[in-house]
Amino acid sequence: MLAVIGGSGLTQLASLAAVRREVVRTPYGEPSGTLTFGRIGAQEVVFLARHGHGHTIPPHRVNYRANLWALVKAAGAEGIISAASVGGIRADLGPGALVVPHQIIDTTWGRPQTFFDGGEAPVVHADFTEPYDRALRERLLCAAEAAGLRVSGSAVYAATQGPRLETAAEIERLARDGADIVGMTGMPEAGLARELAIPYAAICAVANWAAGRGDSASAIHFDRLEGVLHEAMGRVRRVIEHLCETEV
Ligand code: HPA
Repeated sequence: MLAVIGGSGLTQLASLAAVRREVVRTPYGEPSGTLTFGRIGAQEVVFLARHGHGHTIPPHRVNYRANLWALVKAAGAEGIISAASVGGIRADLGPGALVVPHQIIDTTWGRPQTFFDGGEAPVVHADFTEPYDRALRERLLCAAEAAGLRVSGSAVYAATQGPRLETAAEIERLARDGADIVGMTGMPEAGLARELAIPYAAICAVANWAAGRGDSASAIHFDRLEGVLHEAMGRVRRVIEHLCETEV
């Protein structure tokens, strides 16, 4: 079973032949919404909309622990693909680009970020040197190639707190730190997946130039963003479909 967590612009998987929906409760509270179970090709898939079906949950209020727990412990997912929208920082990652990041810089705060939060169980310090699963990233990149879609396979994802967008100086600093793309939901999601020892990879659609870059030099133009994201998430969906239809 493969889990797909859909972000902004991907609140459902059209190709998912939905078999059933399930409301799941977890020791960490409620996940973002019902889990949709189904199949793409031969692959069993469980889908969850990260921000809720009506896109009402902001990035800092997503119950990441409940989402991960529901997908892995309740639904039995053995791998997780995150689809997320991001801002582009690196010069070759403008609006419309697709990216499978390989590294993370986390600047989020105040989000419950661990399953090892005291109590009876001994603390585990999960290794996070490579935050994304290599094999799953490779599968995403191969699926994109098979689908004839261009995807950048190397990028550092900076996770910011949101929901406000960044200042131009914040983006400049992130760029100096080595960040190539910026989003608000990559953490603690990836870290929690690692704590559960579940392979996790992300495919990101660049919705806009990050603050201060390209046509976002003086402001981010939301009117352009929606159309770009819609089209790019269509390609993300095709990559995920290809991945599901390909035997491992
Ligand atoms: N910054 C942070 N998160 C984002 C952006 C951005 O510019 N665009 C889409 N998600």
